Amino acid sequence: MNVADSEVVVSILTGQGYEHTDDITEARLILINTCSIRENAEQRIRGRLKSIGHLKRKDNSIMIGLIGCMAERLKEKVLEQEHIVDMVIGPDAYRALPSLIAEAESGHKAVNVLLSREETYAGISPVRMDKNGVTSFVSIMRGCNNMCAYCVVPYVRGAERSRDPESVLNEVNDLWVKGYREVTLLGQNVDSYRWEHEGNRTGFPELLERVALINPRLRVRFSTSHPKDLSDELLKTISKRTNICRHIHLPVQSGSSRILKLMNREYTREWYIVRINAIRSIIPGCAVSTDIIAGFCSETEEDHNETLSLIEWAGFDFAYMFKYSERPGTKAARRYKDDIPEEIKTRRLNEIISLQNKISGRSKKMDVGRVFEVLIEGYSKRSKDNLSGRTSQNKVVVFPDDGHKKGEYVNVSVERCTSATLIGKINQSL
Ligand code: 5AD
Ligand code: SF4
Repeated sequence: MNVADSEVVVSILTGQGYEHTDDITEARLILINTCSIRENAEQRIRGRLKSIGHLKRKDNSIMIGLIGCMAERLKEKVLEQEHIVDMVIGPDAYRALPSLIAEAESGHKAVNVLLSREETYAGISPVRMDKNGVTSFVSIMRGCNNMCAYCVVPYVRGAERSRDPESVLNEVNDLWVKGYREVTLLGQNVDSYRWEHEGNRTGFPELLERVALINPRLRVRFSTSHPKDLSDELLKTISKRTNICRHIHLPVQSGSSRILKLMNREYTREWYIVRINAIRSIIPGCAVSTDIIAGFCSETEEDHNETLSLIEWAGFDFAYMFKYSERPGTKAARRYKDDIPEEIKTRRLNEIISLQNKISGRSKKMDVGRVFEVLIEGYSKRSKDNLSGRTSQNKVVVFPDDGHKKGEYVNVSVERCTSATLIGKINQSL
């Protein structure tokens, strides 16, 4: 989401005559787009600010802006804590960037952390920073109306709002014309996408289908789904359109219904199991990935074991796994005690990671001997002799370059796998 936001920021500034550079030592303006989701995300930003302090000390006319979620959370406090920062700009204030930069250049520290009920940056054509020219993010909504007890997102990104479907379709169309072959539609909770205009209502399944209909050779992904809202209607739409990728990211967070209730997730372990079963029966061969938090407030060994058993049962293809990190201002910070000692959190997280690694490995081994349609994204990271792409299920596949170009589809038969990658060779071009 921050990559997509940075692309909006670059677009706004390019319109003002700025040029984007990858080389920080060349920059006259440095904007750091920030995340607040866990404390270590913020610590990393503080480290980054320290490491660029010398640029500002060498040339005081260089402007430094802290933008995004951490700016929104800390507001003016950033200026007291981080002296090299000239601007503090929240995620809904990017249209005001030119005037905020002008203010900072005139010697006044500039702050705009107003959240908006309407801003979706529709009409701003993001300048793509992903270098492959094949895959791209498209933001379809902003903010979040769920109140998961641990989560800072509703506070730093504001209320949920959906973007006009026509502007989404125009953006995707434009990407297709420019040669992109895969889009990922982004929202904190895409299942609650809703646009109403003159009595017409568009929900997520309809939007997804309209995007998929732009061209059958355009792959469509989306993230993130919420288990409480994932509908059979959506699953049926995916199964109907082969260019909607066979992968659903469905964060479970915990396998214990008691913890899920404390987390305010609004579903139980049993409900989650029913949703996974629905995915498996409506979309055979669909990959499922998840997010898991270890050591939430009051989590017992029994709760933790329920998380492990759910991971085992679900057989996730992939997972993002975290230790619980208390975020100031959230319901959990206000009402519950962060009472799981650090070493227990670490041990539980390690148990979760090692189980998931085993299961991810198993899922890759099951792909050996099978043939997958792969969209080529470029050379493999390791060697220019190999190409790399992903299957519809979002697994990375590496195979020898036989002259095919990025953006093309090929059939690859998988011969072996490492812990992160499938390795194979091209069967035939499509
Ligand atoms: N501590 C740890 N993990 C968190 N996440 C969100 N808030 C926290 C927190 N306070 C995780 C959730 C979410 C993912 C984006 O980040 O698993 O799905
Ligand atoms: Fe945070 Fe919950 Fe919203 Fe996801 S759905 S962004 S975890 S509040």
